[in-house]
Amino acid sequence: MCGPEWLEQGMKHVWLPYTQMQTTLPPLPAVSTDGCTITLADGTELVDGIASWWTACHGYNHPHIHQAVSAQLIRMPHVMFGGLVNEPALTLARRLAAMLPGDLDRVFFTDSGSVAVEVAMKMAIQYWLNRGQTGRTRLVAFRGGYHGDTMATMAVCDPEEGMHSLYQGALPEHFIADLPVNVAGMQALDTLLAQSAGSIAAIIVEPLVQGAGGMLFHTPDVLRTLRELADRHGVLLILDEIFTGFGRTGTMFACEQAGIVPDIITLSKALTGGTMALAATVARAHVFDAFLSDDPLHALMHGPTFMANALACACANASLDLFDTEPRLQQVAAIETQMRDELESCRSLPHVVDVRVMGAIGVVELDRISDMNALKSALIAQGVWVRPFRNIVYLTPAFTVTRSELSHLTKAIRTVVSELGQAAPHRR
Ligand SMILES: Cc1ncc(COP(=O)(O)O)c(C=O)c1O
Repeated sequence: MCGPEWLEQGMKHVWLPYTQMQTTLPPLPAVSTDGCTITLADGTELVDGIASWWTACHGYNHPHIHQAVSAQLIRMPHVMFGGLVNEPALTLARRLAAMLPGDLDRVFFTDSGSVAVEVAMKMAIQYWLNRGQTGRTRLVAFRGGYHGDTMATMAVCDPEEGMHSLYQGALPEHFIADLPVNVAGMQALDTLLAQSAGSIAAIIVEPLVQGAGGMLFHTPDVLRTLRELADRHGVLLILDEIFTGFGRTGTMFACEQAGIVPDIITLSKALTGGTMALAATVARAHVFDAFLSDDPLHALMHGPTFMANALACACANASLDLFDTEPRLQQVAAIETQMRDELESCRSLPHVVDVRVMGAIGVVELDRISDMNALKSALIAQGVWVRPFRNIVYLTPAFTVTRSELSHLTKAIRTVVSELGQAAPHRR
């Protein structure tokens, strides 16, 4: 494809994410977005089924967010958060504390999900140190989990996803357990905690959906079990709501469905409605209180340069306004119903092993995807932007997606998956 000059010139100098640069298909040059549409340099329009890695929950270019960012840009785009504070950040902290369950009311801002998780891990480990308990440096995380790509977060990802064997020796060792989805799993975790609680700072889990691990769902009961086991054995519970937070599973936060309050929660992705990079780690009062002391070493020693960026916080405040003024959770419920209806017919197609929907997450799981590049190209040919990974094709659209746009997305998936069934065996 003959693209714009910036594409050809710039591609020689850019390193793409999760990409074997020698064999990858060339990326598509995106030049504008609007609502649920991404427009490419040649004028092609794609209906977006992914909302830019699950962030753009109000669709792209929402005028309310634009207006808030423009106004803040003129007033003060950024000022350091060390020794100075800014109104959008403090307003956002107050609003998040009011929205989150229980006494989750101390907000530490960062600029990406991975860093928010790292801060949660530091908080949990130092919580015990500040209380005089040394040696509690390990976390319990779960197979299928994903918490980021930085070194510390890789160590609490699924061992395969986190490339634990490739990076052996470079990553700290934590306990990686199976999610307690049944009595045997619960007993196994109970035993692990009973034997090792003295070395464990916290349990970390993505509530209800393990996203990047394959859009694997579990029930609210699993979260109640984790809360109970954490309390029984005196360890902290961290919920990573970076994917699930802000409506994606049908409630504002996934933990609401279990009626539990974690000790620490991490947020990012849809926090700014997908417009700017921002993340938050929010702690309960007892966690925060453990850092209060006459001893300066008891402080939380962390402070990213762009933390609490005023533009990003203004953006997040505008995004929260939209949850108040527009019917986002009703839209998620309608998306759930429509995806259940329209994806169900994929279940009988060859290679399909499961179809599942939760909130605004729709998944068609295949036994395998043998030619990922061909599948991606077939989806683009259908006029949609959908990014299958591993063995799943999934949708996480903006909550503002229209009925007809969503039908276009589900139909495209049905079409390409049914073509897979007819394709000749893939030759390399
Ligand atoms: C649950 C979860 N935690 C953490 C992260 C890491 O966020 P980021 O990519 O912003 O570092 C992700 C990203 O997909 C995620 O889904």
